[in-house]
Amino acid sequence: MKFGIPQVALASAAAIFAVSVAFAQTGAPPANTPAFANPPHKNLKVLPQDITGPQLLGTMKFFAQSLGVRCTFCHVGTEGQPLSTYDFASDAKPNKDIARGMIRMVKEINGNLPAITGEADSKITCFTCHRGSQHPATAPTPAAAPAPAAPPAGARQERGAA
Ligand code: HEC
Ligand code: HEC
Repeated sequence: MKFGIPQVALASAAAIFAVSVAFAQTGAPPANTPAFANPPHKNLKVLPQDITGPQLLGTMKFFAQSLGVRCTFCHVGTEGQPLSTYDFASDAKPNKDIARGMIRMVKEINGNLPAITGEADSKITCFTCHRGSQHPATAPTPAAAPAPAAPPAGARQERGAA
């Protein structure tokens, strides 16, 4: 039953994509979640308000790993200082709001993918495009796309009229 998933289930799956994806990839939650990561969160506009501390941290680590960056790429804080000194609720860094747009974009694409592929679990994540880089590649790199093999010896070569 490829198209048998109720729309409601799809919608809610999309709503928690960031959480479930991050969780699946970062393993068990830490035993002690730092206070700054726990609800009530001060400035969530896209992620669920009631997201737990471990889920939020897992999602954030997933963002950082997917882009190959540290927390300070999106958040106000000083590298090397304890995370408790960071102002995670601040929107002063433009990358934070770009990331919000990216979360919305991923949700939208994931809402459409199952109908396109016919597979209920088709999805993309930040990593699908970013692959550890701030700037996703728009064309294959030479290493990723080796030149086509040479034709076998004796094969006829196309020649232009001359
Ligand atoms: C690629 C950008 C990005 C990176 C990297 C990132 N975050 Fe975030 N973070 C966000 C966004 C976007 C939000 C707000 C989500 C929303 O509006 O629902 C957020 C929100 C938070 C919040 C909630 C703040 C509040 O009270 O509103 C905490 C805590 C947090 N991040 C911690 C971290 C930590 C710790 C790291 C490093 C492991 C990290 N983040 C890395 C983008 C990022
Ligand atoms: C469909 C592909 C795609 C997906 C999925 C995707 N991104 Fe992006 N992202 C891009 C592209 C393309 C850019 C522009 C990169 C550039 O300027 O070279 C970008 C840029 C960004 C930037 C700004 C980086 C910079 O240096 O200017 C942030 C932050 C970001 N993405 C976060 C995220 C997060 C977080 C996710 C997952 C929620 C995500 N992206 C998922 C394609 C994607």
